[in-house]
Order: sequence, then structure tokens, then C-alpha cells
Amino acid sequence: MRIAINDITVSYSDEGKNGTPVIIFIHGFPFNKSMWKMQIKALKDNYRVIAYDIRGHGNSDAGDGDFSIELFVKDLLSLLDALKIDKTMLCGLSMGGYIALNAIENYPERFDALILSDTNCISDTSEVKEKRMKAIESIRKSGIEKYADESIKKFFAPESFTTRKKEIDAVWKMIVKTSKQSLCNTLLALSVRKETCNKLSEIKVPVLIMVGKEDKITPPAAAQFMHEKIKDSFLNIIEHAGHLSNMENPVEFNEHLKKFVANV
Ligand code: MLT
Repeated sequence: MRIAINDITVSYSDEGKNGTPVIIFIHGFPFNKSMWKMQIKALKDNYRVIAYDIRGHGNSDAGDGDFSIELFVKDLLSLLDALKIDKTMLCGLSMGGYIALNAIENYPERFDALILSDTNCISDTSEVKEKRMKAIESIRKSGIEKYADESIKKFFAPESFTTRKKEIDAVWKMIVKTSKQSLCNTLLALSVRKETCNKLSEIKVPVLIMVGKEDKITPPAAAQFMHEKIKDSFLNIIEHAGHLSNMENPVEFNEHLKKFVANV
């Protein structure tokens, strides 16, 4: 489905029954809403489950201007308004988690629970910023396929390269479907994002934190740090998974997710 919000048209899926609790899924970078297939399947009988493509990703328009986490949050809030959703649970992976944390900091009244997966509250270190600038250079010079080949190596746990070939292929396709312009714009937006760690203690809703045991991008230590700061939070380390824990171990991920949302 498509809906016009702000200066763009956003692509989203909306499954399950009206009148049941709402849960919105926000994908990571540079992926799209199709990464949540297994979670939508697991929840749609009992919840209204929405997944959308962030601007410039999947089938959503990019618009004309620069990207920022604040702009992505504005799009999320406009999507909620357009779909007439007052309050929702929010599940974000990595960049989706950065968006979720910024959204709850600024609009706490719109959310009744958070699921933070393979994400972090810190801003980029100078080393990470530099890597992003190098990635932009490489995308412009050598193209997206080379970028996809390189970046995919860090997204998955080593064992997933033999056990999760279908998922790896799906993620590769998600990356190359993203335009050069959107990849570079998002890398810039990520590099200047603000930290949200200082506000974690103000979060008043239940929070489930999950992370792949072998996540090298947003490692278990980052999840543990957020868990210690957020009063009403639960932490689960997902076995046999790297940065894309929901795709690499959907059984374990969904088990924790279902248990958590049932208790919200
Ligand atoms: C993601 O999965 O969203 C990215 O790894 C986030 C990042 O590069 O910081």
C-alpha cells in the first residue's frame, strides 16, 4: 500500500485486525520492510502489524532534500497521523532503533512499548564517521554492487553464510535496490545523528532489547548498557545471530517478541 505524507509517498504493509493492539516495524540500513516478513507472520493473527519503507528505501520516495534521523521521525509521526493511530508499540532494528529512540524522546505520548533490536544509543565515533565517508566515496566510484558485497560480510554471523543463504541473498537484493543517492544521503544522516543515551532513564514504557550474540556493529555490550539505563527493560541475547537477529534466528527472536507484546 502507499500513502502520501510530508513531501513523499511511503510504501507500507498493514496486516492483522483493526481494533487489536498496533505494532510498527522500522527496518535498518540499507534494508527495507521486507526484512520483517517472519515477524509479521508471527504476529498478524493477534495484532495490527505495520511495516513501512523509510524514505529513500524499498518502494518509498526519497523526496528532494537531505536526510536526517529527525526527518525520519517526522515521517513516522506523519504516518501515524495519516493512519489515525494514536498510540503504538514500535520495533526498530539498528537504524530503526535510532529512529525509535529519537521518537520516544520527543513524542513519548505516542508509544506504549519499544522493541530495540541490534541497535545503540550512542552517536558515531570519529572512526565510524570516517568509515561512512569512505563508503560514500566507494559507492560513488565503484557502484552499489561492490558496496553490497563488502557490507554484507559484517551483517551476518559467520555461520549464517552456510545456514541462511536465502536471507543473505534477500538482504543483498535489498541493498542493491536502494539508489546511490539514498545510500549516500542516509550514510551522512547516520554520521551526524545525536546520541539518545542521556534520555534512556526517562523512558516510562516497557522495553525489550534484543541483540545477536555475534553482532559486531551494535554488539551485546551496547544492548547491556541500554538495559542498565532503562528501568523497565528486558534483555535477550539471540544465539546463532549477528546484526540481523530477526532474520538469522527468527524462532528465538519471535518467541521473545510474542511473550513481550502479550504482556504490554
Ligand atoms: C543498520 O543496520 O541500520 C546499520 O548498521 C546502522 C549503522 O550503520 O549505524
